[in-house]
Amino acid sequence: MTLSKIDPLDFSVNTHALFHRQAVLLTCGDFNQHDYNCMTIGWGLFGTMWSVPAALVVVRPSRFTYEFMERFEDFTLTAFPPEFKKDLAYLGSHSGRDEDKLSKTALTPIAADLINSPTFLQAQLSVECRKIYFTDYKPEQFLAPFIHEKYDGGDYHRLYYGEILQIKGTSKFTNPAAEHQSSFR
Ligand SMILES: Cc1cc2nc3c(=O)[nH]c(=O)nc-3n(C[C@H](O)[C@H](O)[C@H](O)COP(=O)(O)O)c2cc1C
Repeated sequence: MTLSKIDPLDFSVNTHALFHRQAVLLTCGDFNQHDYNCMTIGWGLFGTMWSVPAALVVVRPSRFTYEFMERFEDFTLTAFPPEFKKDLAYLGSHSGRDEDKLSKTALTPIAADLINSPTFLQAQLSVECRKIYFTDYKPEQFLAPFIHEKYDGGDYHRLYYGEILQIKGTSKFTNPAAEHQSSFR
């Protein structure tokens, strides 16, 4: 799919619909070394932190992808057209620890522009991020009871903030009305 660069100030997406309904692929590692893994995520944010465009992802320590998030400096977030929904379901229910799960899907990893983690040929949105912060959820700081229900077995997520270095997407992710100076550093 042909994607255009999108300035963060022009980036237009219903993030709740994107994460909660459509789902996103988190991929981390080194494409050239064939040393990477990906998993489907449904919880995350796009926003602003320390005055730079930022993404937040949360990864449970039990995930194979967690090991990559600890070892590598960057990650991509990608979204796909509806026909790849079953592939995202597969990547979100099987572990790269057990199999070459990407080979069971129609997705093709390709080099990203600015970072080592791969992006995907079929993506309609590709966000390249560099890790800038991490912290861990602490159950004693959950202020709403329903949050505890998400953690029957512990395995509290680690939060990773990524500075967004580049956004590429189809025209549906661009706000055509925006006028601005570039918001990248
Ligand atoms: C729709 C959906 C959303 C998910 N969101 C997350 C998430 O935000 N964080 C997380 O740690 N796991 C999440 N998962 C679970 C992982 O994708 C799943 O455990 C995956 O198999 C891990 O693969 P890995 O072991 O290769 O890293 C989600 C799964 C699905 C299907």
